[in-house]
Amino acid sequence: MPISPEDIRSLHKYETLILTTLERLMKRYTWVPDDILRKSSDLSLQEMEYRLGHLMAKDMVKSSSVPYKGYQLTFSGYDALAISSLVKKGTISALGCLIGEGKESAVYEALGTGVVALKVHRVGQRSFQSVRLNRSFMPEWNHFPWIFASTYSAKQEFEALKELRKGGVNVPVPVTINRNVVAMSFIAGVNLHQSVLENPKEVFDAIFENIKKAYNLGFIHNDLSEFNVMVDGKDVWIIDWPQWIDPSHPNAAEILKRDIDNIVNYFSRKYSISCTSDEAYKMVVG
Ligand SMILES: Nc1ncnc2c1ncn2[C@@H]1O[C@H](COP(=O)(O)OP(=O)(O)OP(=O)(O)O)[C@@H](O)[C@H]1O
Ligand SMILES: [Mg+2]
Repeated sequence: MPISPEDIRSLHKYETLILTTLERLMKRYTWVPDDILRKSSDLSLQEMEYRLGHLMAKDMVKSSSVPYKGYQLTFSGYDALAISSLVKKGTISALGCLIGEGKESAVYEALGTGVVALKVHRVGQRSFQSVRLNRSFMPEWNHFPWIFASTYSAKQEFEALKELRKGGVNVPVPVTINRNVVAMSFIAGVNLHQSVLENPKEVFDAIFENIKKAYNLGFIHNDLSEFNVMVDGKDVWIIDWPQWIDPSHPNAAEILKRDIDNIVNYFSRKYSISCTSDEAYKMVVG
């Protein structure tokens, strides 16, 4: 379930304090003990219980009574902390509506210096396997793999956007990152699969120019398809980069071929553009 913008907007300062305190203490406890949470947040018992009630109703905190009374942040609680921090830092002034929801993320429109897109990464236990080897990256989160994996995923995407943008690839401009949330420029366009192109060959060439540039910079997308390309009538944008791999990866050739096939097949099916996968592959790595 994505977070509700209203739930974040209506957070009381004591509720934010509880979320921040829980985040800090979860580096030491799987379930943060009731009494330790109260001492650390310096709230009265009555206030804390009242605020925890709100947070649990918003599904931002969950509790356990065994082996002792304790609390944990949920995905929504962690998302709320990241988004509130972006508001506090002035990166965004207002959170808008949900504009996209995938298997492992939710994307919101927000107001910052202009319109920005906020991508909230939510990577669960299953996908965590692929990043397990890099666990030394955030050792303090070893017992909360979803926090680790989601933050790692956001960081991967942010780094890729930075380097790709610098190297002239058409991707959203990365603005900032906080925990599992990446703020980037908002693209006023539509996904390729939802558009009917007047100039399909030009768009096809532009996509391949970007794949080639990215490859030369050391990035293979690894989930490229008509769902991760956006068009706005003028430019072509490649989005959704957290799972990128390096061309030195042992399966790089196979993965790059899959990315290329997806695009070649889409244009052949929908616009009868004939270019073989081999030709396209040579165009990228040649
Ligand atoms: N910068 C952006 N500007 C405008 N819309 C965006 C932007 N980034 C993403 N979107 C929209 O949100 C949708 C989901 O974003 P994205 O593809 O990055 O993640 P995802 O598909 O949810 O990830 P996953 O592959 O884990 O399912 C996109 O298909 C697109 O419609
Ligand atoms: Mg996507």
